[in-house]
Amino acid sequence: MTDYTPRPEHKFSFGLWTVGWPGNDPFGIATRPAMDAVHAVEKLAELGAWGVTFHDDDLVPFGADDRERDQRIQAFRKALDTTGLVAPMVTTNLFTHPVFKDGAFTANDRDVRRFALRKVLRNIDLAAELGATTYVLWGGREGAESPAAKDVRDALQRYAEALDLLCAYVDEKGYAIRFALEPKPNEPRGDILLPTIGHALAFINQLAHPEMVGVNPEVGHEQMAGLSMVHGVAQALWQGKLFHIDLNGQNGPRFDQDLRFGNGDVKTAFFLVDLLEHAGYDGPRHFDFKPARTEDEDGVWASAAACMRNYLIFAERARAFRADPEVAEAMSAARVGQLAVPTLLPGETLDDLRAEEFDAAAAGTRGMGYERLDQLALEHLFGVRRPR
Ligand code: GCO
Ligand code: MN
Ligand code: MN
Repeated sequence: MTDYTPRPEHKFSFGLWTVGWPGNDPFGIATRPAMDAVHAVEKLAELGAWGVTFHDDDLVPFGADDRERDQRIQAFRKALDTTGLVAPMVTTNLFTHPVFKDGAFTANDRDVRRFALRKVLRNIDLAAELGATTYVLWGGREGAESPAAKDVRDALQRYAEALDLLCAYVDEKGYAIRFALEPKPNEPRGDILLPTIGHALAFINQLAHPEMVGVNPEVGHEQMAGLSMVHGVAQALWQGKLFHIDLNGQNGPRFDQDLRFGNGDVKTAFFLVDLLEHAGYDGPRHFDFKPARTEDEDGVWASAAACMRNYLIFAERARAFRADPEVAEAMSAARVGQLAVPTLLPGETLDDLRAEEFDAAAAGTRGMGYERLDQLALEHLFGVRRPR
């Protein structure tokens, strides 16, 4: 039993754009004032977070002159030093300014693509200076509303070209940075390139430096596509590609809700935390959520604290689930562990397999016992089965 108090060793991080979101949406203006980055860092540290992440434009407004840029970076750096917060991940805003309306790395206009690369290169230098080890690329504007607008094969070639150039740059500079692609099926573009974890993983294999590129899956984005976040993250882990993760909440396929972690599909959240903890994922637990626009600043901090608290609650429930002897017995009855045994053992041949007698009719009548196992998981999640 823990007291669910977040501590730096839990590696909880938040984007400046999350707690700093003023509540503007396509139908309404901001409901909260803009938040100063230094204030956000101080409050996050106070709540027990470990890290803070940002887009270039979250820290330094687009188009600011060098003097203002230096001042803002200095104040941020000072806040990190005083609070002990780290900046584990940095990203680029390649979606707000009108210049990116048709994309950045995959804009049809070549001069826009070159401008986008300059913007990223400059911010990678800052990321390295601040000690970030992950650089996220979310291509929200890389896409189209009409198949006539873009030759997707060319767009993917340009996307790969951008990644190849960025990897070569990081390599040449000797920065300890890896890239993480963040999939999303749609919004703001009608159809976004690299819409799912699977698309992103397949794309990475085509790159010049696949070892430098992984994924940053977001709970809500997979669910917008009706997919299982747990399966997607498990595949990313299996391929050694889970470089970062965006935790939040979503209620099924609809607009991107970015709910606080724990709101939305609670069962997925539970099994996702179980997977991360059980698999020994040791990267940041990054919350990419939007504090509801109904809230004032107190509500912002209440929801940020709740993201971390919910993670710790799920982690505790997941541990209790796996430690429960009845669960162990139900898992064994469901033959969960058998899946880890190779189908053909070392030394066995396909001839051994061919020679085997098997009663398919009898096997077809065997129940799997998954309903009992799933109910035990739910009861742990509901908190009605406490650790003994
Ligand atoms: C979204 C995205 C963004 C990105 C972030 C990083 O909700 O559509 O998650 O929040 O994660 O902008 O570039
Ligand atoms: Mn999102
Ligand atoms: Mn995200």
